[in-house]
Amino acid sequence: MTFTVCVFDAYGTLFDVAAAARAAAAEPGQEQLAEIWPGLAEDWRRKQLEYSWLRAVMRQHCDFWQVTQDGLDWALEAAGIKGPELRERLLALYWELEAYREVPAMLADLKDRGVATAILSNGTVDMLKAAVQSAGIDGFLDDTLSVESVGIFKPDARVYRLVTERFSCAASQVLFVSSNGWDAAAAAGFGFRVAWVNRTGAPVDRLPARPHHVLDDLSAVPEIAAP
Ligand code: LAC
Repeated sequence: MTFTVCVFDAYGTLFDVAAAARAAAAEPGQEQLAEIWPGLAEDWRRKQLEYSWLRAVMRQHCDFWQVTQDGLDWALEAAGIKGPELRERLLALYWELEAYREVPAMLADLKDRGVATAILSNGTVDMLKAAVQSAGIDGFLDDTLSVESVGIFKPDARVYRLVTERFSCAASQVLFVSSNGWDAAAAAGFGFRVAWVNRTGAPVDRLPARPHHVLDDLSAVPEIAAP
């Protein structure tokens, strides 16, 4: 079966969220960060996501840029890092995260196979536009859908519905790709066909639905989308 559209999660799936802390740690004068950056990046990501879920449950939505800053502030304090300069540098780098190496060729292959492509992300339109442009992949994407148009974060079903509305298709015609196990599970529960990109060999999430494909990276996506 050829899918109508292949939809990607953004952060952690197309863009490497650890890249900001890794790049800052390599800059002159960042010896303290160089020692601890992997833990800082992990705390930052974990808190950013926890705040998104908690705010959804609490019905106190704010945009993803706010939870990104709040998560970083928690992580910096937990690491004992003070001062505004590093905070500002890490936040600036978040707007130009590296895409994973295989991303441009994989998206080009999807376009060659006639599959529509889109991003569906918690990120704001501005954050996503900046990341897409900085990675040089804007020419390969038909659309970038942000949760801001429904005002709630993933995994609320209203977010996944943005795809079927935008592409006027059934959920079963969508191949959804995410590296976030919880996002993959929720998207499968919504009715998408789901490929979970499991770069770290993590166990599958124990949630009501499971992904249909488990991949090491994004290279196999075009073959699944349009064999
Ligand atoms: C996103 C987050 C979940 O891009 O990574 O939606």
